[in-house]
Amino acid sequence: MAEKRENVVMFPFMAQGHIIPFLALALLIEKTRNYKITFVNTPFNIKKLRSSLPSDSCVQLVEIPFNSSDHDLPPNTENCDVVPYHLVVQLLEASASLRPVFKQLVEDIIRQQDGQRPLCIIGDIFFGWMAGVAEELGVFHAVFSGAGGFGLACYYSIWLNLPHKQVKKDGGDHFLLPDFQEASKIELTQLPLTMSVADGRDSWSIFHHKYLPEWTKSGGILFNTVEEFDDIGLVYFKRKLSKPVWAVGPILLSTENRIRASMGGATPEYCKAWLDSKPENSVLFVSFGSMNTISPSQMMELAKALELSGRHFIWVVRPPIGFDINSEFKANEWLPEGFKERMRESEKGLLVNKWAPQQEILSHKSTCVF
Ligand SMILES: *[C@@H]1O[C@H](CO)[C@@H](O)[C@H](O)[C@H]1NC(C)=O
Repeated sequence: MAEKRENVVMFPFMAQGHIIPFLALALLIEKTRNYKITFVNTPFNIKKLRSSLPSDSCVQLVEIPFNSSDHDLPPNTENCDVVPYHLVVQLLEASASLRPVFKQLVEDIIRQQDGQRPLCIIGDIFFGWMAGVAEELGVFHAVFSGAGGFGLACYYSIWLNLPHKQVKKDGGDHFLLPDFQEASKIELTQLPLTMSVADGRDSWSIFHHKYLPEWTKSGGILFNTVEEFDDIGLVYFKRKLSKPVWAVGPILLSTENRIRASMGGATPEYCKAWLDSKPENSVLFVSFGSMNTISPSQMMELAKALELSGRHFIWVVRPPIGFDINSEFKANEWLPEGFKERMRESEKGLLVNKWAPQQEILSHKSTCVF
């Protein structure tokens, strides 16, 4: 009889900041253990992932049926990088509706393996519902966070407690987290927009109140972080969930795999050559990630400030809030007049559309501020 290999099922939320760390973890598990890995995602993301997988990888990519049109999302929007910011929460809600389909998918896997259950299901921080599915199927479940412990502990606590609600009412400007006082003082101005307007009745609050507490059904939490410098956040989750918390980082994709997983924009070679031409510790790196963007006025002010600072910078630009995130970036409209040309001619600033090789930029000796 053929040797039965243990199977690990992984399913990240449909966003680059989730898929890429999951892919890195999948490749690491594959390399260090003789496990079969089933990597689940929606059809468009799986198509993109096919070209990102190294040729010697046996990670199995499995499509879960999903049609964004069924969820009042624009056609073919299956990844946060193409979803307008105000619809991101709708993509989250749509992902939660995959519960029964995902359960079916794992049941099919068990059937195909002659009744052998997967060793483990590794789910996303946004997929609290998955812990319940695993429990029903008798499979161990772990949450995997591509983010570090401290930031996620703040995120978790703020969404569950909404401490800023009362503070705003009282006219205050900062608060402590009731179950995470170690985080110390947080200013209202530090909150992202969705959080600062959250009052418990908005879609984000409703989603998180439903699914974040489900983590308690999970067998443990994996963080792409290092215990030595992220202990405060990890201790929060140990206390809060009474679950094992494992710091398994840093898990990074190799350069070649990162290039394959990237999405156009500037090539690592181009950014490296540009950075090579700058003095050590002289370049600011500005990026808001592949899910977020900023308001038109913030964009305008940021451009003015960067120019006035006289510093070198790399800035990953995406259309501001209120504009089609998939449209072409209109420097003439959204940035000060002549800004783009001045930055190019003086070689002060490099504007990169949508996506930059962040790891290469951050690890370059010319970069000093993120
Ligand atoms: C998604 O559903 C819409 C409406 O039912 C349909 O027109 C479209 O072809 C479907 N897309 C895919 C990729 O199956």
